[in-house]
Amino acid sequence: MFGKILEVKQEKNKVIFLFEQGTGIIEIINPWVVNVFSPLKTNEYKSKAIESLKGEECKINVETTGTHIQITTDKLKINVYENFIVDFYDEIGNILCEDYRGERKPFVRRGNGGKLEEEGHKVLENIKENKVQVIKKLMGDEKFYGLGDKTGNLNKRGYDYEMWNTDEPAPHVESHKSLYKSIPFFITLRDKSVFGIFFDNTYKSYFDMGKENNEYYYFAAEDGNLNYYFIYGDKMEQIISRYTDLTGKTPLPQMWTLGYQQSRWSYDTKDRVIGIAENFRKYDIPIDVIHLDIDYMDGYRVFTFDNNKFPGFKNIMDDLKGMGIKVVTIIDPGVKKDKGYFVYDKGLKNNYYVKDKDGIPYVNEVWPGDSVYPDFADKNVRDWWSENQRIMIEEGVSGIWNDMNEPASFKGPLPNDVVFNDEGIESDHREFHNLYGHLMSKATFKGIKKYTRKRPFVITRACYAGSQKYTTVWTGDNQSFWEHLRLSIPMLLNLGMSGMAFCGCDVGGFSFDCTSELLSRWVQVGCFSPLFRNHSAIHSRDQEPWAFDEETLNINRKYIKLRYKLLPYLYDLMHESECNGLPPMRALVIHYSNDKNVYNINDEFLFGKNILVAPVVEQGKTYRALYLPQGKWFDYWTKEKINGQQIIIKNAPIDVCPMYVKEGSIIPNYPDQRYVGEKVIDELTLDIYEGNGDYEHYEDDGESYNYKNGKYNLYRITQRVKEDISIKFEKIHIGYDSSYKYLKIIFNSSKVKLVTFNNDNVDFVENDNNIEFKINAVDGEIKITLI
Ligand code: GLC
Repeated sequence: MFGKILEVKQEKNKVIFLFEQGTGIIEIINPWVVNVFSPLKTNEYKSKAIESLKGEECKINVETTGTHIQITTDKLKINVYENFIVDFYDEIGNILCEDYRGERKPFVRRGNGGKLEEEGHKVLENIKENKVQVIKKLMGDEKFYGLGDKTGNLNKRGYDYEMWNTDEPAPHVESHKSLYKSIPFFITLRDKSVFGIFFDNTYKSYFDMGKENNEYYYFAAEDGNLNYYFIYGDKMEQIISRYTDLTGKTPLPQMWTLGYQQSRWSYDTKDRVIGIAENFRKYDIPIDVIHLDIDYMDGYRVFTFDNNKFPGFKNIMDDLKGMGIKVVTIIDPGVKKDKGYFVYDKGLKNNYYVKDKDGIPYVNEVWPGDSVYPDFADKNVRDWWSENQRIMIEEGVSGIWNDMNEPASFKGPLPNDVVFNDEGIESDHREFHNLYGHLMSKATFKGIKKYTRKRPFVITRACYAGSQKYTTVWTGDNQSFWEHLRLSIPMLLNLGMSGMAFCGCDVGGFSFDCTSELLSRWVQVGCFSPLFRNHSAIHSRDQEPWAFDEETLNINRKYIKLRYKLLPYLYDLMHESECNGLPPMRALVIHYSNDKNVYNINDEFLFGKNILVAPVVEQGKTYRALYLPQGKWFDYWTKEKINGQQIIIKNAPIDVCPMYVKEGSIIPNYPDQRYVGEKVIDELTLDIYEGNGDYEHYEDDGESYNYKNGKYNLYRITQRVKEDISIKFEKIHIGYDSSYKYLKIIFNSSKVKLVTFNNDNVDFVENDNNIEFKINAVDGEIKITLI
């Protein structure tokens, strides 16, 4: 407890409180974002998530009253009381977030827990006090979103979780407190207000979102500082945007990384990999990436290759590239303890491994047997790891998949006192556990960037807040269960709301055997997740698109081709993400946060703002109920126009994923390609749905950093419906030598009488539900007159 306030000082944007016991600091980052800090462990903030905190000069006013100090920004009022109790109000004085005044009081658990344990049940702990703890009052109607990759429903109200990166091979279920990632950020939606809290503490931390009691929720950590950001905004989009202003945006990836990816533990010989590649061509299924899992290495030694299974590794990479396919290889952190193995020797010589309390490199077991763990807390080690990427890049590898970096360990967890070197200061496993995957991906990203000079493609299993700057993520070892297909949706949506815009899961499920129906439905979700990778475990049945029957093959082809068609739209969304942090795959609540019908939707999502996807995620179902929010929506398949704010029933035979496009939408499409870059796209299709709407389409070379120097194009397309329909096409930034010569317009209405472009009549073809025509890709206005 901090006790009474003894003194208050202001230093620029910081208001410093000297309490009877300890110090508290309120720092105004900008009118919307406030940091609450107390140096319980160190005076420094030491954030690994926030690399450059850009505070804004802003007006703040500090006033002392009898009971508290009030700090005012243009947007917030913050009241600070004794015991460092902090309440937040909006600018006109409505309470947003209030510290809970009482003691924690868990619900009573009756009866004998020991008896329950005898049968093997897990007994819930009653109360755990932590060194750092913030308890907030529940006003009643709070909904919570975010918190990374946690299991359970989209809305985290009523759950409790732990942040402790965990390699979890057991089926992921709702009662799991932690999985692979620690993203201690959540968004609270209540009444008409919305705010986020980012608890930047890397020790094991706890989040109880009203499970322990319905009067409060809390976040707590075993050690470290009290350090959280209160992030306010008018809309949920702004909360995500401001959180990613702090922790970083997902950078625009190379376009091929958005293509379809096929993986397996493992395609373990040259012939097998080439065979897989050929099958994609044979079955006419687009693909951009094949993944090589651990068996390409020599005895699981990272940065080595098995020359028997993959003779002439680089030539194989070149052959695949010739077919338009890139290879991503797995790299785990564990380095085999093996004298004479160059990676191990170099790390040992330079003191690069984490140590036990006696200063000896700490050994545990992973795939190669006894292994040591690079100390990624140390910049020298990260630089070394970055250098090692050169080996992979020179062999023709195009991206790196970082796994087992929780870090995983087969012989029990790493002890708490394993020593890390935090840039010269000794630290321990308790502080660096949750950062291990983050720092490993950061090193990987930097290495790939240095040796390719292109936008790096890294995938990681473990991460911390802010990892989105360096890596994409997947949700780890799921299973081929319908339950896991369902779970993947809220997981990916919450990852997206936690800053991880580029995420995906193992399509078809990792462990267990997939079925034709499950894969058919899963590919219908994968099609819309930014990372679209089918992956499965050793010893499970084959799971490639052709591994089942003709119908499953056709469904895979249909949705993978749809993905390639929507690539320019997805690329636009990734560009948007780099600007404002919004994920491509979005919970409905992000855009419709005033509509209570969407707060708990676990099985529908938006793909960007314009497309609503309501996949079938139950075995045997060929129809489903779904909710359309406000506005008018077009059924993507039938083009039927439907009013929003209602529940509808959609027939969805096995090959149909219900999809709806909002009125006024303009969706860019590419022609069929077998891989990204196969064709020069000289004709961009614009799929247009009647209604007022604006859209910006982004174009660049799809791989380099030249866009940062202005080498990109931005097109604005505006649709206005009056008596006639006017569609304006404008180039608003020209910096890249565009490949577009023509625009193919698909206008989704069959009642068209006349089309003109810049006042010249245009011939159009009438289809069942739409018309199509072609014009030159130059600035101008299309006018459509309906019958
Ligand atoms: C882990 C990964 C999985 C991978 C396997 C072998 O279980 O999560 O994706 O296939 O290790 O490397």
